[in-house]
Amino acid sequence: MFAVHLMAFYFAKLKEDQIKKVDRFLYHMRLSDETLLDIMARFQAEMEKGLGKDTNPTASVKMLPTFVRAIPDGSEKGEFLSLDLGGSKFRVLKVQVSEEGKRNVQMESQFYATPNEIIRGNGTELFEYVADCLVDFMRTKGLQHKKLPLGFTFSFPCRQTKLEEGVLLSWTKKFKARGVQDTDVVSRLTKAMRKHKDLDVDILALVNDTVGTMMTCAYDDPYCEVGVIIGTGTNACYMEDMSNIELVEGDEGRMGINTEWGAFGDDGALEDIRTEFDRELDLGSLNPGKQLFEKMISGLYLGELVRLILLKMAKDGLLFGGAKSSALLTKGKIETQHVAAMEKYKEGLANTREILVDLGLEPSEADCVAVQHVCTVVSFRSANLCAAALAAILTRLRENKKLARLRTTVGMDGTLYKIHPQYPKRLHKVVRKLVPNCDVRFLLSESGSAKGAAMVTAVACRVQAQRKQIDEVLALFQLTREQLVGVQGKMRAEFEYGLKRKTHALATVKMLPTYVNGMPDGTEKGKYLALDLGGTNFRVLLVKIRSGRRSVRMYNKIFAIPLEIMQGTGEELFDHIVQCIADFLDYMGLKGAQLPLGFTFSFPCRQANIDKGTLIEWTKGFKATDCEGEDVVDMLREAIKRRNEFDLDIVAVVNDTVGTMMTCAYEDPNCEIGLIAGTGSNMCYMEEMRNIELVEGHEGKMCINTEWGGFGDNGCIDDIRTQYDVEVDEGSLNPGKQRYEKMTSGMYLGEIVRQILIDLTKQGLLFRGQISERLRTRGIFETKFLSQIESDRLALLQVRRILQQLGLDSTCEDSIVVKEVCGAVSRRAAQLCGAGLAAIVEKRRQDQGLEHLKITVGVDGTLYKLHPRFSLVLQETVKELAPQCDVMFLLSEDGSGKGAALITAVAKRLQQPLREN
Ligand code: BG6
Ligand code: BG6
Ligand code: GLC
Ligand code: GLC
Repeated sequence: MFAVHLMAFYFAKLKEDQIKKVDRFLYHMRLSDETLLDIMARFQAEMEKGLGKDTNPTASVKMLPTFVRAIPDGSEKGEFLSLDLGGSKFRVLKVQVSEEGKRNVQMESQFYATPNEIIRGNGTELFEYVADCLVDFMRTKGLQHKKLPLGFTFSFPCRQTKLEEGVLLSWTKKFKARGVQDTDVVSRLTKAMRKHKDLDVDILALVNDTVGTMMTCAYDDPYCEVGVIIGTGTNACYMEDMSNIELVEGDEGRMGINTEWGAFGDDGALEDIRTEFDRELDLGSLNPGKQLFEKMISGLYLGELVRLILLKMAKDGLLFGGAKSSALLTKGKIETQHVAAMEKYKEGLANTREILVDLGLEPSEADCVAVQHVCTVVSFRSANLCAAALAAILTRLRENKKLARLRTTVGMDGTLYKIHPQYPKRLHKVVRKLVPNCDVRFLLSESGSAKGAAMVTAVACRVQAQRKQIDEVLALFQLTREQLVGVQGKMRAEFEYGLKRKTHALATVKMLPTYVNGMPDGTEKGKYLALDLGGTNFRVLLVKIRSGRRSVRMYNKIFAIPLEIMQGTGEELFDHIVQCIADFLDYMGLKGAQLPLGFTFSFPCRQANIDKGTLIEWTKGFKATDCEGEDVVDMLREAIKRRNEFDLDIVAVVNDTVGTMMTCAYEDPNCEIGLIAGTGSNMCYMEEMRNIELVEGHEGKMCINTEWGGFGDNGCIDDIRTQYDVEVDEGSLNPGKQRYEKMTSGMYLGEIVRQILIDLTKQGLLFRGQISERLRTRGIFETKFLSQIESDRLALLQVRRILQQLGLDSTCEDSIVVKEVCGAVSRRAAQLCGAGLAAIVEKRRQDQGLEHLKITVGVDGTLYKLHPRFSLVLQETVKELAPQCDVMFLLSEDGSGKGAALITAVAKRLQQPLREN
């Protein structure tokens, strides 16, 4: 009995002595709570640095965006391939994720060797090897002929700009294949796979093993928002708020950040805690100076650290009576599994003896106790360091969420964590001590990262399918050259129908004679009133023309025309117009002055004279009753009479295209075409009298208002009209009419966009599938908003803000799609308009029998003026479709009022001799 006690006492004393000895020797490796808190704070600062746009380039902790935006929600499904490369084992897997709701995952996998000559040889050969293994796996599993999406777990630091791409920043751990760093590993593998003709695999996602682990665990526990690996290497990822990730556009939701914490300290931040053993180990590693934090923690290095310590202690005579074996002198002879075995509860001491004997040593009882304690100190330090960094992440998560207490789950994987008997317990305990305000659940990833990678791939697959659906819709708006040439040809044919007496009545492009025969010649002079009705604004103007100098002074006032007047009775409309004129005269101090007036009236009118115009039908947003079929000049005269306050001499009624052409011709006599790309779309041009069968006479020219907006009303362009165009038409004031205008002008483009967005939302591709009241509201996308959204200078966030202003609550992804939709719709509009214009310039060239035509187009309209690309695409299209014409575009700065005044001046001059006769 006494002997037993004595033995126990003796052993306890021996143990105490040895532990004291080791503790003294490894004093520097034992980290106090204070130090850990300090390291935690340092890591917090490192994270901040890595996330900042300006600070990231010099940050050692890279905080890499992963483009994984959400944790699994159980809706994932499908069959996926998975590669898991970079941990202690290389695996190829097939992962089957069951139908929604059941959370059932089945996996089949196979391990493949990763010999040093492959992982440290030629990079291309490494990827070929991986591809070979994949092919082998598919053969074994009878999957050769299946097209499967693949998730690639690649456990090295990669800079990603999207999910399916990643540029290797540097190799870590045991890998060092040549020529891979700084290249995209996804394209490298894709290229290697191409060697196998029958292989049809699409790499949809590249994920770090930490991300795979986090996703694997999140599939079972939705609280999981951190993934930690303590294996061959060590690293962690977590879900960061997008608004904190400066390297990625957008501030919506969260994104996984691969911290690459293994590199913590590479800038010297941990020099005070690194020991001589850490430095020695680093010098002998594949990547000296790199991954300094990892080298104090992970499985690849722990055994070696222990060996270096034992060697030094032996050398100092503190172990094995000063004896060293050649094994002890050999790098890599002690591995993590040995450390784990030596620290086992019961067998630990016996294991230690065995391991030391295997190393050719003759350990005493005391040596075994000491060596075991060396292992404990080293592995405890590892757990402490991990805990400090993890505590920093947890604190960040808690602060991001502005919570006093955080309840969260950390997904864990890695051999060190899994096989070391004390490691998990120690880690958990220290974490809880460092962050007492976090309730942390540690969840071991039983099935490795592949399952999580499959989840990410499943989401990517869904996104890809959605992308395809969106592209299909956008493709409807992409016109081929042939289609545009077709439009040009049909437009040309319609011009001829409209001009010919026989076909005119049925023509959809009406080709209306305007009785404007000549261009201003600079002799015009006098004071004129002008009205400008039918565009975005209604204006009344006073235009003073001074002869000789080609200078014009204008005074104008914009008046609103309320919707109920635009769509009320004709009398109300014209009374309102006269009221505005009265206000203007008042304002200008011109009451009682009897001035000649030019009336720009931007609707199709049949004219028999310059001062007579019968409205054929309303277009755009007007629908006042009792006007169609009436002479608008008469209606204006009557309204003036009704008011009985002043008299005006209405000399000319002109279309806005004609006014625009004249405004521009005043500057450039070569301007023989007027184009409006605004609320509506229309064009006028100077035609040879001999071609105008509706008007007597063969000499000279007359301006023709084409009213091309009605092109297609006979169905001739139905092949390029989409369901969205049809919907816009059906919801308009004039269904079936002005089909070309409805594909090309400002009043309708936004409506087309809106119809597409509604459809995409119905398909679940936008706005989370929710069609808001706003989206149902007609006319929300005015030309100015379209123009803003498409502006190149605009960041995504600003697009999103515009959409929010419009009352559309969009995510960043939504905003991208909306911008694309706007782009497709406006581009088609510009191209169609260009095809129409090409038709007229070609006609003019051929009519004049010219090899080359040089001509100027006077242009106006908000779409042309405000939209960032419309004018460019329009001009390109004209160039492409009418290569023999040299077309100059002259923007009408002063609106059509000036042109209307010039026309009035000319008409007045022509009236004079008549009256004198
Ligand atoms: C495995 C994962 O379970 O753990 C791998 O599937 C990961 O993706 C590995 O790299 C990490 O641990 P170790 O010890 O194998 O490096
Ligand atoms: C103006 C002209 O500048 O442009 C109007 O003065 C014309 O006559 C208008 O109708 C066309 O553009 P929008 O975009 O206002 O319809
Ligand atoms: C290394 C790699 C990292 C990986 C970790 C765990 O640190 O750089 O990407 O996550 O090992 O495998
Ligand atoms: C509509 C009108 C037309 C006008 C055009 C531009 O198409 O019918 O007359 O020129 O809009 O405002």
